[in-house]
Amino acid sequence: MLKKIVLKNYRNISNLEIEVGETGNLIIGDNGIGKTNFAESIFYSVYGKPFRTSGSIDDFIGPEYNFSSVLTKWGNGEILEVSTQRSMEKKITRNFKLNAKKVSTKLLPNKFPVLVFAPNTVDIINGEPVLRRDELDNFLAIIFSEYREELDRYKNLLKNKNATLKMLSEGKGGIDTLEFWNKGLAKSGNYLNSKRRWLLAYFNSILESTQKSTGFYNFKEKERELLIVFNPSIQAIEENYEATFFKKLQDNMQKEIIVGKSLYGPQKDDFSILLDGKELRFFGSRGQQRIAALLLKIAQYQIVKKELGVSPVLILDDIMSELDFGNRTKTGQFLLTEKMQFFITSADKNEIPTNILQNSINLPAFL
Ligand SMILES: Nc1ncnc2c1ncn2[C@@H]1O[C@H](COP(=O)(O)OP(=O)(O)OP(=O)(O)O)[C@@H](O)[C@H]1O
Ligand SMILES: [Mg+2]
Repeated sequence: MLKKIVLKNYRNISNLEIEVGETGNLIIGDNGIGKTNFAESIFYSVYGKPFRTSGSIDDFIGPEYNFSSVLTKWGNGEILEVSTQRSMEKKITRNFKLNAKKVSTKLLPNKFPVLVFAPNTVDIINGEPVLRRDELDNFLAIIFSEYREELDRYKNLLKNKNATLKMLSEGKGGIDTLEFWNKGLAKSGNYLNSKRRWLLAYFNSILESTQKSTGFYNFKEKERELLIVFNPSIQAIEENYEATFFKKLQDNMQKEIIVGKSLYGPQKDDFSILLDGKELRFFGSRGQQRIAALLLKIAQYQIVKKELGVSPVLILDDIMSELDFGNRTKTGQFLLTEKMQFFITSADKNEIPTNILQNSINLPAFL
C-alpha cells in the first residue's frame, strides 16, 4: 500500500508532499492542472517510465530546473526514489533507489505492483498488436520477476539475428550463426509462450466471475460472455513448442534471408477479445470496448492479489468519461467492496458516482 508521495520539479509540480488514503483517492481539478502528472508519478517511481506515450526523459524535469525527484513511501516502510539530473552539457542522468540503495527497475513491478487504466487503455482492444503484446508482457513482468529479463534476452537474440539476416540478404556474411540464433530464440521463446498461454487461460478462467462481481455486461437479462483468444505466431501444443518453433525457423531460413528479417515467433503473437463470439475491436461500441478494457484491468488486479498476495495500487486516469451512469456506479461499487487502494483523476466532480465521493479522500494539496 502506498503511504506518501513526495515530488520535486516533476513536470509541472514543483513541490508536493502528500500522505495518501488507504482506499479511494480523488484528484479533481481543471484541465492541465497536473492531475495525470501526479497520478503518473506513482507509476513512474516503480516503472521508470510514464504510462502515457513518452517524449524524452528530459520531460520529467520541470523547465526551470535541472533536477527532479519522485519519492514514494510504501506501507512496509520501503522507499522508492527516482532522481533525474540535467548537467551543464544538457546530459540527463537518472538514479533509481530502493531504501536509499541503487536498484534495477526490472525488479520493482513485482514488489510494488501498480496497474493503470487511462484513456489509452482501450487501445488494448482496438489498437495495433504490439500494444496487446506490451500489455501482456508488462503484466507478466509484475507476476514473474524473471519475465522482463527473459523478454530482454529474446529481443536481444532477435536483434542479432535480424542483423545477420540483413547482411545475408545483401549477400554479406555467413549463414552458420543462424542456427545458433534460432536455437536461442526457440528456447527463450518457449518461456515467453508458456507464460503468455498461462495468462490468457487465467483471464478466461476468471473473466466470467469478474463480469458477475462487477455487474458489467449482465444487462437486459442477458449475460454477455467475454473471451480472449490467443493467436500465436507458432501453432503448437505447449510440450512441443520449442521444437516446433525451432523447426519452423530452420525450415524457413531461405525465406527469412530473402526478406532480410525474422518472420516467426512471439514477437508476432496477438490475441483477440470476443464479446458473445464477435470481435470487440470491430464489433463493439466505444463504451463496450472501454468496459472490456476495464474488466481486463480488474482481472489483472485479481490475479496479482491471488498470485503475489499483495493488493496492487490502481490508477484510474479519467476513467469516468465514456461510461454511463450505471457503469460508473458499478465501477465505484466494485472498487469499494474490494477495499482496493485507488487514485481517480477527473476534471469534473459531477461524473464521480456518489459511492466513490463518499468513501474517498480528496487530494487537492497541489492544486
Ligand atoms: N516537463 C514539464 N514541465 C512543466 N510542465 C509540464 C511538463 N510536462 C508536462 N507539463 C504540463 O503539465 C500540465 C499538466 O498536465 P496533466 O496532463 O497532468 O494535466 P491534467 O490535469 O491531467 O489535465 P486533463 O484534465 O486535461 O487531463 C500541462 O499543462 C502540461 O503541459
Ligand atoms: Mg489528465
